[in-house]
Amino acid sequence: MVTIKTDKDIKNLRIAGKMLAAVLLEVQNCIKPGVKTITLDTLAEDLIRKHGATPAFKNYQNFPNDTPFPSTLCTSVNEEVVHAPASNRVLVDGDIIGVDIGLKYTIDGRDYFTDMARTIGVGKISKIAKKLLRVTKTSLEIGIRQVKPENTILDIGRAIQEYVESQGFSVVRSLTGHGVGYKVHEDPQIPNYVRSHAKNVVMKKGMVLAIEPMVNIGSPDVMTSDDGWTISTLDGSLSAHFEHTVVVTDNGYEILTKM
Ligand code: MF3
Ligand code: CO
Ligand code: CO
Repeated sequence: MVTIKTDKDIKNLRIAGKMLAAVLLEVQNCIKPGVKTITLDTLAEDLIRKHGATPAFKNYQNFPNDTPFPSTLCTSVNEEVVHAPASNRVLVDGDIIGVDIGLKYTIDGRDYFTDMARTIGVGKISKIAKKLLRVTKTSLEIGIRQVKPENTILDIGRAIQEYVESQGFSVVRSLTGHGVGYKVHEDPQIPNYVRSHAKNVVMKKGMVLAIEPMVNIGSPDVMTSDDGWTISTLDGSLSAHFEHTVVVTDNGYEILTKM
């Protein structure tokens, strides 16, 4: 079921989105060669709690039998696409790191979730890595521009796929964006490509969407590692990820997680 948020919900989600963007900015400012991903994670958790909110991903389970997700951040380096738990891994010059962050803000007796991500270069990165970051960030912006009442969810994926492939890269297919707000993951799924069997959904004012293209330099295929969480490219090529939480407004959209 796709939920419609009230004006009061949007007000609270706006607060939760601003908090999240502020925390991610502080995390981003700490990223440099020599830093461990767990150090970024501790910083993020402290900052979220200082805002009176809670990390949304820590102990998250997709299914009841999953190993609970162990950290506040997803810290996916190089060929890792998404969902890499923070660890003692030390960032080195030339790495790219996808930082995905979510929080739960409880107010007026209700939980509000926001979700965002961006991929950041560590030190001096290669020319192709720079292009990957630029293309992925732009593909998110292009997808977001499709958000308005009466457009459909597939319009978002179509725009993202068309742009990414025109730049010679590929869009991951087995993971999607999603509704968000009352929970981390709500309906509808938001594929970043034209999925012919997808249930299409017409956008309505008050829908809150997490749009999140994952873009690979090589093939779109991915695999899950033995830790049960980390998803990497099958061919080992670099991958990037950008995400915003966006609300459908009267005549377009508002980005709730603007930095
Ligand atoms: N933030 C991810 C998303 O964009 C979900 C992370 S859940 C976790 O959908 F448990 F893997 F962290
Ligand atoms: Co996310
Ligand atoms: Co998401």
